[in-house]
Order: sequence, then structure tokens, then C-alpha cells
Amino acid sequence: MGKEILFHMEDASSVRPHELEYLEPAITRVHKLIHSRKGPGGEFAGWVDLPLNYDREEFNRIKETARKIRETSEVFIVIGVGGSYLGARSALELLQHSFYNQLPANKRKGPEIYFAGFNISPAYLTHLLDITREKELTLNVISKSGTTLEPALSFRVFRDLLEKRYGKKGARERIVATTDKSKGALKKLADEEGYTTFTVPEDIGGRYSVLTAVGLLPISVGGIDIDEIMKGAAVGHQLYGRESLAENACYQYAATRNILYRKGKVIELLATYDPAFLYFSEWWKQLFGESEGKDGKGIFPASASFTRDLHSLGQLIQDGCRNLFSTTLWIESPAVDKEIDKLEEDIDGLDYLAGKSFHFVNNKACRGVMAAHASGGVPSLKITVPEQTPFYYGQMVYFFEKACAASAYLLGVNPFDQPGVEAYKKKMFSLLAKP
Ligand code: PA5
Repeated sequence: MGKEILFHMEDASSVRPHELEYLEPAITRVHKLIHSRKGPGGEFAGWVDLPLNYDREEFNRIKETARKIRETSEVFIVIGVGGSYLGARSALELLQHSFYNQLPANKRKGPEIYFAGFNISPAYLTHLLDITREKELTLNVISKSGTTLEPALSFRVFRDLLEKRYGKKGARERIVATTDKSKGALKKLADEEGYTTFTVPEDIGGRYSVLTAVGLLPISVGGIDIDEIMKGAAVGHQLYGRESLAENACYQYAATRNILYRKGKVIELLATYDPAFLYFSEWWKQLFGESEGKDGKGIFPASASFTRDLHSLGQLIQDGCRNLFSTTLWIESPAVDKEIDKLEEDIDGLDYLAGKSFHFVNNKACRGVMAAHASGGVPSLKITVPEQTPFYYGQMVYFFEKACAASAYLLGVNPFDQPGVEAYKKKMFSLLAKP
């Protein structure tokens, strides 16, 4: 089974053992709500057993389609917003070369990959069109509802480009639609045009969909081993399927954040120590923000990329309003490490680090920051992931999905709806005079 993701509190005083014990009955109830799928929003709990019962036939079709895209494309554009792109982007950034798109083609496992449809910026779209103009292009348009404005607008522009460049028939070969199995404008268009189509399962909402075709197709196009991701998620299913709080790191995390929330810690800062985590943090923010923030409740999920943000947000975190706690997401063994060389002259005074690795220094920074935060009144949680690999990416996704559902149930809200997202859409469409 390999190593486990570990959870621990840096400062024992913020949450005392008896406070966790008092939550044991609540965790037992929450566990039953999740696994029986009888809790609020239970019709969207398809992600719970997905690592075991995912559609193998579709999974193989994903790998086959990804292989074809890798062979025929220089650029692959993923069009989607929220849960329809953050999962794929988080995996690609965490598991690929930091400058993947800039690598020579023979050093990449697939085409350059870009994202669109997550904003309404004319500059972003125009500049993306500029850099893709001369290259063989394939699109993956992803929208569960099939009606979201941001991806629909970007898709309109790129579809037109493909049809002008390759003709209607040629364009058809270069568009993959991932959407609902029967409803929505995208499904209708995909059926009429005969696009290759993948389905977002009915019982899985956008922010829980990274382990479906929504995330897996773009991840596989990026040359990442999605079998390993699903294996990691399956181990996560087993480890975080334990009912007992004492044996389940995922429930310990959920219970701890709930206790801190009740003590007025209304902001959670996810602290990571490698820029490769920037989009994992974005995925995490959507997962927790949309799942918990409702009915006048919810922890505000914020993120910081350390050590960069110690030089911008560090002062506020250490010394500002005491309304936050931090959760450090730490990778025990990163995908890449580098030794610090001894130079002939110690002109920069850094020879005391010679022979050590960058990861070693990063680890000391992390430990120093956590100790400083704890002493500054910032409760400090730590989640330690053994390795930066597809396997542990899958396990991490499952860990956070389960922790998020448990946190929302502990808070007394439905983890799987997002009624608040509709409010801006109504106002915007009225201002746009949508018929
Ligand atoms: O989690 C969710 O359901 C949302 O954030 C959606 O992922 C997001 O709004 C995009 O929706 P759709 O896939 O329908 O275009």
C-alpha cells in the first residue's frame, strides 16, 4: 500500500485531545452520511466509491483518445472553468516539468497545453490565439451543464478558428467535448457535429470531478500515468474509509478545522512550498469554498506559496488579526532535488549550506515558519504527502475530497450544491439582456 498521508498539529495547545474526542460521535454520523449517500446532496456522492467502480471502458477510451491527441497535435487547449479545469491544471502543474510548454517538443510527452474559458479577458484570448495560430491544434471543451458563459464564449472562438483552418469535417476530428450525458447546449452541439464525447457522471459535481474524464483526459494528454492516479485514489478510498477518528487522518483534519472555526479562526491558509502547487491550491480553494461557504457559514480558504509569500503576506500572517490558521501541505520527497555546491571562494557566505540540498533548506524554512506561526498565535496544521507522484496525487485528491465533505457535514451544510454561484449569473445575464 505504500506510505500514508499524515496529519498533525504543530502546536498541541490550539486543539486539545479532549476536543477531538468530543467530536468522535459527530464524525461517526458524518462517516455514515457520506457512505450511505443519505446526507444532504447525497445524489452527488458518486465520487465516494469512484476509485473502485469507475467505468473501465471509458477509462481506456480516455487513454486511447489522449494517445491520438499526442500524435496529432502540437497544442492542446482545455476549455473550462471551476471544477471543469482546476483539477486537470493542478495535476499537470504538480507532476510535469515546471516549464513544460517551453521544452523542445522531443523533450515533452505531449503537445503544449493551455487553458481557456475561465475568464472573459479579451487580452488572454487574443494572446492565446496568437501563440496557437501556426500550430496543429486540438480542443477539449469541458462543461457539465454545457451552458456556462465563460467556456462557451472561448469555445465559440476556437471552434470557428478550427472550422476555418481544417474545414467542418477536419475540425470535428479535433474537438473533444466532455459534458452531461443528455442535456445542455454543448451536448446538443456535440451530437449534431459528431464530436468525440466523454461524460461527466450525473452523480459527481464539477469540483469533485477530477478523477473522471473531466480531469483525466487532459492529464493523460500531458503524458501523466492516470492508472497510477487511480491506484493512489483507490488506496485513499481504503485509508480514509476508516470510520474511527483515531485511525483516519482525513477525518482528523476535518475535525480539527471545525474546532478551530468554532474558536473564531475563520480563514484557513493553505501553505505550500513549491510553485508546482499553485494550481493544486486553486483546486483546493474551489473545493472547500464552494462546498462549505453557505447558509452564512464557512471557513474562507486562502492560499500562500512559500517561501515567496513570506516576503509579502508573512507580516500579516505572523502579526495581524488572529482570525486564521494555517495548513501546511508538505511533500516529503519532491520529484526533483538539487545539491548546493561548494565554490572555490565563499564570497556570498553561503558555504555553510554546501553539500545540503535545496529541499533540505526548504524543509528548514517550513519548520521555522510553522514554529514561528505557532508562537504567533496561528494554529498550525500539517499534512505530509510522501512523494510528488501521480500515485500520491490521486491519494491527495481523495484525501481532500473526503475531508471536505466531512467538514461541510460537520458544519451542517450541503457539501455538494452551490446556490450562491447563480446570483452573479442572473444579474450578469440581465445586464447582457440575454433573451
Ligand atoms: O463545482 C462546480 O459545480 C462548479 O464550480 C462548476 O465546476 C463550474 O461552475 C463550471 O460548470 P460547468 O462544468 O457546468 O461549466
